[in-house]
Amino acid sequence: MNFARQYDEYREAVEAYLGGLFAEKTPWADLYESMRYSLLAGGKRIRPVLTLAFAAAGRADWRRALPVGCALELVHTYSLIHDDLPCMDNDDFRRGRPANHKAYGETLAVLAGDALQSEAFRLIAGAPGLDAETRIACVRILSGACGASGMVAGQVLDTLHAPKTPDELREVHRLKTGAMIAGSCQLGAAVSGAPGLLAAAAEYGHGIGLAFQIRDDVLDVTADAAEFGKPIGSDRESGKVTYVDLYGVEKCGELVRDCTEGAVAAVSAYDGDGFLAELARSLSARRK
Ligand code: IPE
Ligand code: IPE
Ligand code: MG
Ligand code: MG
Ligand code: MG
Repeated sequence: MNFARQYDEYREAVEAYLGGLFAEKTPWADLYESMRYSLLAGGKRIRPVLTLAFAAAGRADWRRALPVGCALELVHTYSLIHDDLPCMDNDDFRRGRPANHKAYGETLAVLAGDALQSEAFRLIAGAPGLDAETRIACVRILSGACGASGMVAGQVLDTLHAPKTPDELREVHRLKTGAMIAGSCQLGAAVSGAPGLLAAAAEYGHGIGLAFQIRDDVLDVTADAAEFGKPIGSDRESGKVTYVDLYGVEKCGELVRDCTEGAVAAVSAYDGDGFLAELARSLSARRK
């Protein structure tokens, strides 16, 4: 297995699928344009790639998992549009271009996010090649990952509850980021139906999810804004306490490594070609 080639194959399939969405001509062309502006802005596509990789790890045809992986990417994109709003993180730059509300205004940014969330569940409901039971399992996984005890809960704690202690911060990271990354992995496992894979996917996803958000906090201090694709120093400017404040950059690197290796161990029985291990390790050193 060539890791980079496999990642590109997954990512290209995701781009092609997403590129076909919201392309019809409608009287509300501005809404579709605003949705596509953020959706097709060149994100890393880590979450849908994880979905496809877990479907493959469970020995399913990974193409059957495309609609559900892309559904989660729609929800992720909505969460980024809303996260950048003035009432949230107030950031003007995302995925290397002006944030949605800077390009289209706050009203359309809120509504584009709302629509992306609903349309995600439509994609799951109509996913060809999945039986009704699997589609329902996917709806449960995605709604749990993004809902009131998942990502949105994390966003509430992060923006309104001023988390400060290591335990509080860990909980915010687990919810605002870990839940969606674990959900991506679980969607692929659910599509495959492989016994035992669902629990391993959750453990791997939460491990790399915590590592991913610690790395994001580090990059918010150390990254190059053009490469990172979003503003540097945004957390400090908004008065947030982050992992970097608690532990410093070096110790954060150790924490990222520990979470990553724990995640790799959790899926070793299923990761025949080593793709999941390589993906986890590549994320721990990411620069964007
Ligand atoms: C950004 O996620 C939000 C966090 C959880 C830190 P990504 O870093 O995956 O963003 P995109 O999708 O590549 O733009
Ligand atoms: C993750 O946290 C955001 C979401 C759940 C959408 P951040 O606020 O740190 O994400 P970035 O740094 O803006 O991408
Ligand atoms: Mg935020
Ligand atoms: Mg933010
Ligand atoms: Mg951040």
